[in-house]
Amino acid sequence: MDKFVIRGGNPLLGTIRVSGAKNAALPAMAAALLTEEPVILENVPQVRDIETERKLLAAMGAEVELGFGRAQHRTTICCRKLAAPEASYELVKTMRASTLVLGPLVARCGTARVSLPGGCAIGARPIDLHIKGLERLGAKITQHHGYVEASANRLKGGEVVFDKITVTGTEDLLMAATLAEGETILQNCAREPEVADLADLLNKMGAQIEGAGTPTIRVEGVEKLHGAKHRVIPDRIEAATFLLAGALTGGDLNVSACDPSHLGALLQKLDEVGVKTAHTSESVRVMGDNPLRAADVITEEFPGFPTDMQAQYMALATQAEGTSIITENIFENRFMHALEMVRMGANIKIEGSRAIVRGKTPLSAAAVLASDLRASASLVLAALVAEGETIIDRVYHIDRGYEHIEEKLRGVGAQIRRIGEILPKKAVAPAMRGYSQST
Ligand code: UD1
Repeated sequence: MDKFVIRGGNPLLGTIRVSGAKNAALPAMAAALLTEEPVILENVPQVRDIETERKLLAAMGAEVELGFGRAQHRTTICCRKLAAPEASYELVKTMRASTLVLGPLVARCGTARVSLPGGCAIGARPIDLHIKGLERLGAKITQHHGYVEASANRLKGGEVVFDKITVTGTEDLLMAATLAEGETILQNCAREPEVADLADLLNKMGAQIEGAGTPTIRVEGVEKLHGAKHRVIPDRIEAATFLLAGALTGGDLNVSACDPSHLGALLQKLDEVGVKTAHTSESVRVMGDNPLRAADVITEEFPGFPTDMQAQYMALATQAEGTSIITENIFENRFMHALEMVRMGANIKIEGSRAIVRGKTPLSAAAVLASDLRASASLVLAALVAEGETIIDRVYHIDRGYEHIEEKLRGVGAQIRRIGEILPKKAVAPAMRGYSQST
């Protein structure tokens, strides 16, 4: 298991480039299941979740070529023949977003067998809304031996009102509806940029979708979809992580190849805490020369402050003067990083869904444990301002969603290196076994 060794104290200076969005690339790859023709995706990040999705599609008989060596990070997926429309527990347990294949498979093949993801480190995260939505489109769904089995001769358009806003639920239903007979209206949809990006790709493939990026999406089903070429949007969570890192370290950092229009809630919060920013249409510069002021954050669905930026914001809050109250509204157990930050000297109290962060406290290096993807990123940020050498264990979590993060950070002045270690099996904490990974 790899670890990061980080020596804190260096301001981040220079330009750091953002990769393509993992959370947009994953549904885009699943969308390729809807057609027999090749789908070409550019700007796909070289992260572990993409490799997991490749394995998932390949196990069904898809031809997937991941071209990371080239500048475009181009992936070509061809699902001409699908041998087994199935997502196994072995893969779903390592990546919950594997359940995104449920809708496309039942729409294209008339049958799908997908493992239920089970528990997760950050919350219960059921997929009941995906299932209810597909039933509304006429799929027959049963559950046996931990698997969801769905079937339909052809899905029929209908109205689906999501009880709760769900990102991958919206994406799953959106993909299914493209091949359904007649019109589907999806209500109370997620408005995340990744949903709109998926709709862009699907429309290039011949789908008829209107309203993606708003709460109501209309889909007029078509008989067939065809191949297409699409460039995945930049990763707004990676961009936010770098902006917070620049601000936190008192640096002067230009975060390039991002889309500032996806970062509104964060940019407003940076302004509130006293951080200067300037942006072009595809970059944001953060200038962290002012003292940081505390500011509260409440996580919400887009365009609110994303839950995926909460942990990284907490690292910043430990270095702000005053008390910041961080309220987590999306997931019920997403404060694991707080306890690790406390071990580094932060003053954080957890009260239910609220974290009360009292700053500014100096942080000191410690051995800490990454519990999930964004928690790992927050510990990297904390380590960048801690005195001494922090060792972060289980960085495989960060490799799921950040492309070569240590190389990128080293390029702007951070002292960070990766070390590998082979641990005996019993050294893996039992509490973490059996949990599928957060996204
Ligand atoms: C996606 C993102 C993840 C992000 C999250 C919230 C991907 C691959 N992952 O995850 O990074 O943290 O959105 O922005 O895009 N829920 C139900 N039933 C369902 C589905 C969801 O109760 O069927 C609940 C969840 O438990 C959670 C809330 O709805 O409390 C939002 O979850 P959802 O938007 O579905 O998250 P994901 O799509 O899994």
